[in-house]
Amino acid sequence: MLATCTLEQIAIAKMTIKTDSTSNAIVIAVSKGRIFKQALPLLAKIGIEPLDDPDKSRKLVLSTSDPEVNLLIIRATDVPTYVEYGAAHLGIAGKDVLMEYDGRDFYEPLDLGIACCRLMVAGVDGADQIPSRPRIATKYSRTARDYFASQGIQAEIIKLYGSMELAPLVGLADCIVDLVDTGSTLKANGLVALETICEISSRLIVNKAAMKTRHARVSSIVSSLRNAVETRDG
Ligand code: ATP
Ligand code: PRP
Repeated sequence: MLATCTLEQIAIAKMTIKTDSTSNAIVIAVSKGRIFKQALPLLAKIGIEPLDDPDKSRKLVLSTSDPEVNLLIIRATDVPTYVEYGAAHLGIAGKDVLMEYDGRDFYEPLDLGIACCRLMVAGVDGADQIPSRPRIATKYSRTARDYFASQGIQAEIIKLYGSMELAPLVGLADCIVDLVDTGSTLKANGLVALETICEISSRLIVNKAAMKTRHARVSSIVSSLRNAVETRDG
């Protein structure tokens, strides 16, 4: 209990925190799954290799081969929140997630060119046009609303959290806005792509305060990653 601590105990506690190897570490937030897998070679190239596999371990904070860097394993949509609030110094997030995020208080210095796909409007095969006042099912409600507004189309947006492809099949919506890579999910569900909203890839984002207070280390990670992206094979 803080109230019952002596000044000496508090001083010892502070020293313990300072000497704890994790407390001074740079923290990078990343989601498990495809972003984690595709970020691994880039991180390895700059000397950051996680000591655990998040698909096998239940740990949410992973130490790495660099004792001064830890990875936080969180949901893809939570990465901008952790970085904006400084709970992580850096993060890796899809452009789709960043566009949808209600806030922009971080830097986005680098396109990592991983987890590439397109954000698209899709509808049932045969209906090759978007209706004039469409009902759109999507988890990207903000981005979809902005897109249709920019086209002068008044769309009704139905927010879903997954399996968007089902919505037009059961009459919940005319179209969906979702990510498309190979197109096989659309095809398997009798849907076709109608319009591309934008190209998506994962970006490195940086907490604004960390860019000042941890400038040397943070900017060195950014420039090493930039170099790793530029010299990547293929
Ligand atoms: P969560 O399960 O935590 O809600 P998620 O299902 O969106 O997140 P992933 O499927 O791993 O998590 O997707 C993470 C990111 O990868 C997306 O935000 C997007 O930028 C990109 N992505 C998603 N689907 C594809 C795909 N089929 N091909 C390439 N990149 C994709
Ligand atoms: C994503 C997206 C699409 C699919 C598109 O889903 O939501 O459903 O990929 O990829 P394709 O064009 O190559 O078929 P994901 O595989 O991430 O599943 P999830 O939405 O359940 O996370």
